[in-house]
Amino acid sequence: MILVKSRSDMWGTRRVYKGNGCYIKEFDYCDHYWYHKHIKMVDTMNPGYYINTFYSTTRMTFIMKTVPGVNAKTLGSGIKFVKRILKFVHSNIQETGSLGHGDWALENIIVNGNDMQMIDWDACGVMTKEEKLNKAYHDLKKDFEKKGLRSFDNIWRESHD
Ligand SMILES: Nc1ncnc2c1ncn2[C@@H]1O[C@H](COP(=O)(O)OP(=O)(O)O)[C@@H](O)[C@H]1O
Ligand SMILES: [Mg+2]
Repeated sequence: MILVKSRSDMWGTRRVYKGNGCYIKEFDYCDHYWYHKHIKMVDTMNPGYYINTFYSTTRMTFIMKTVPGVNAKTLGSGIKFVKRILKFVHSNIQETGSLGHGDWALENIIVNGNDMQMIDWDACGVMTKEEKLNKAYHDLKKDFEKKGLRSFDNIWRESHD
């Protein structure tokens, strides 16, 4: 297993590992209520994404299928690409109904030819369409502007027409 990412916040540390054809995310803390609710929501929005999950008194572990493709963060910010991402995000928002992914950072979008898929469902929850659009707008604007794109607002506005 290779450590891909490690991140700490006020709750503790979570680590993402890669190997044996899957990804593993391990939280060194646990929250029973969140764990069960989270699994149910991910199973509704993305059935089969979790191959297995484990809960112990000290940690929560999620085994995920590998989503094939390239991380959108590593791709450009050409207008055509930005439009494709926005089209995908809008359909993701539509498809998930009263639930939502909740973290539309480019790092959480995997591009495989014409296909795109979301990974990292940690922030998913019950959300209105307006809440989802608002979060997606801020997440994507931040990431694309970091890449030097200045016309994000125009492209976003056009993507609603
Ligand atoms: N199921 C998956 N398929 C493909 N790549 C993944 C998968 N899960 C994680 N990754 C890779 O690992 C990185 C970190 O995982 P992520 O769940 O986004 O962690 P974090 O919650 O710290 O952002 C992702 O940006 C992606 O490159
Ligand atoms: Mg992520």
